[in-house]
Amino acid sequence: MDQLIVALDVDTAAEARALADALRGAVGAFKIGSRLFTSHGPNIVEQLVARGDRVFLDLKFHDIPNTVAGAVAAATRLGVWMVNVHAAGGTAMMRAAIDAARDEATRRSTRPPLVIAVTMLTSLGESNLAEVGFAGSMNQGVERLARLAHTAGLDGVVASPQEIALIRRSCGQPFTIVTPGIRAADEDRGDQTRTMSAAEALSEGATYLVVGRPIIAAPDPRKAAERIAAATGTQPAS
Ligand code: C5P
Repeated sequence: MDQLIVALDVDTAAEARALADALRGAVGAFKIGSRLFTSHGPNIVEQLVARGDRVFLDLKFHDIPNTVAGAVAAATRLGVWMVNVHAAGGTAMMRAAIDAARDEATRRSTRPPLVIAVTMLTSLGESNLAEVGFAGSMNQGVERLARLAHTAGLDGVVASPQEIALIRRSCGQPFTIVTPGIRAADEDRGDQTRTMSAAEALSEGATYLVVGRPIIAAPDPRKAAERIAAATGTQPAS
């Protein structure tokens, strides 16, 4: 299933490689986040890219524009398929990120990675917003930051399942919406509170689904990925 991104939330490169080997062909991409990247750096990214995998580098850059541009250019040199930044870094930072991806890709005659933005971390609740200086509700904050990302020319955003419809309404198509928090109705939610099934998230307008533990902690990760694909009525990845 091309729209399924598997979060490789493991501690060792060996575990990440084993999961990728087990899942290759059944899913669309692998997400490498700060946990694995901090342990193993760019090597594991390069290894997966060399095997032909699409890699979403989920490091949520948030810094001054020049620094973020340098980081996104470096991610482009690694050959990642998607990379992300925090929308709260502002328009200049997001423009610097997308420009860096395109310029570096042009220099190397490759395709630029998709550059998407995190709006509000889903770990924040309404009660935390005032604490960090956000006025208004969570939905208002998400909508404002998604529009900002759209206007800055980014390719899309990461959004919780509950925010997909709102963002799709305000930002239209084509705009990539990547959605974690995917759980079947009868499945253990772990620390995810506001979840949706894969089929529901796609019908709300999600472009890609990020799934971690329901696949990587399953006794047979490939079967778990195939079950999710079957539940949405989509084909295995090509
Ligand atoms: O194991 P699970 O399916 O909950 O994993 C979801 C993945 O998506 C994790 O890598 C998590 O860090 C990431 N994520 C999230 N919520 C966000 C952004 C990213 O769960 N808002």
